[in-house]
Amino acid sequence: EKDGYPHYMAKEIHEQGTVLRSTLKGRLSESGVDLGDDVHWDGDFLRSLRRINLVACGTSYYACLVAERVLERWTSLDVKVDIASEYRYRDVKIGADTLAVFVSQSGETADTLAAQRKVRSLGGRCLGITNVRGSTLAREVHDLLLLKAGPEIGVAATKTFMGQLGALYLLALKLGWERGDLNPVEASRLAYGLLKLPYEVERVLERDGDVKAAAERFCGYDDFLFLGRGFSYPIALEGALKLKEISYVHAEAYAAGEMKHGPIALLEPNVPVMVVIPKDGLYEKTLSNVQEARARKSPIVAVASDGDDLIDQMADWVIRIPRCEECFSPFISVIPLQQFAYHVAQLRGCEIDQPRNLAKSVTVE
Ligand code: M6R
Repeated sequence: EKDGYPHYMAKEIHEQGTVLRSTLKGRLSESGVDLGDDVHWDGDFLRSLRRINLVACGTSYYACLVAERVLERWTSLDVKVDIASEYRYRDVKIGADTLAVFVSQSGETADTLAAQRKVRSLGGRCLGITNVRGSTLAREVHDLLLLKAGPEIGVAATKTFMGQLGALYLLALKLGWERGDLNPVEASRLAYGLLKLPYEVERVLERDGDVKAAAERFCGYDDFLFLGRGFSYPIALEGALKLKEISYVHAEAYAAGEMKHGPIALLEPNVPVMVVIPKDGLYEKTLSNVQEARARKSPIVAVASDGDDLIDQMADWVIRIPRCEECFSPFISVIPLQQFAYHVAQLRGCEIDQPRNLAKSVTVE
């Protein structure tokens, strides 16, 4: 069943190009987005929307943080993202102009289900994004968008994160296009960019050997700080979560600009900084944070774009990723972080598919 891979996690990481292709398939072309028969919106509803709330836990929450950025860029909606365990107890305001989106791989996460029920009781319109058609979330929401990731066995979510990004980008593009927030030429260009992504994901997956070499060099450290800005901030959070979950290495993630507001005190030669720094509009800003970390003698591991020579002078180790348009970088940059966590866990002799204390779905509060 593992198709020759030593662990489900390795197999699932390698399936991500296929997962993304399947999630986009039949739903996206250069002339529009069709979310399928389980989504029942009409043009008036889409144009009446003013707010969108995205709610999830864990890795699914990080997918929502990426979506927040792309929804803000492609639509005029007011976007809010929250962790389900907080959202369900807050005094959220839900109106006829609000779309609530619940993202859960399993569709069984207790807090996400409770948050959905709360929005429903307030009269809000709920979209569920899940990988499991028969799940409780899928049955309870008004509208449903399924990932096409296939069953995920490894406790650490990898390919479902990729599927969630695909589904959330489809949603953002549909809203931007059909509400008229995006001009049609730009929308069509973005659709083309999205359609090409599965191939780009496959090209990144082939670079696993480079990431393994980085893991061999850094697997002995017990504390890591992950940094990223903009689209790379949620990816830093996800990379740190993966490392914690399966290798039991302490890893914290911060928005790069927050580093000097506290975490910089932790930096010293035994605390490497993993920085996600693709060549994008915030590159220089992140680079200045790298310089600050370097001045505290933290080893720097950078996930950086091909052709970025400057980073070689700043980092102790560079993991290369292909260049891509800024808004699509999360699909690319998350892969080496998943691979890094996997290889570190393997080198440290950890249980990879069934890490201690964790369950695949958290069905109690
Ligand atoms: O099934 P869900 O997407 O609702 O699960 C949410 C989290 O429990 C899940 O993402 C968890 O953080 C994973 N172990 C991450 O690898």
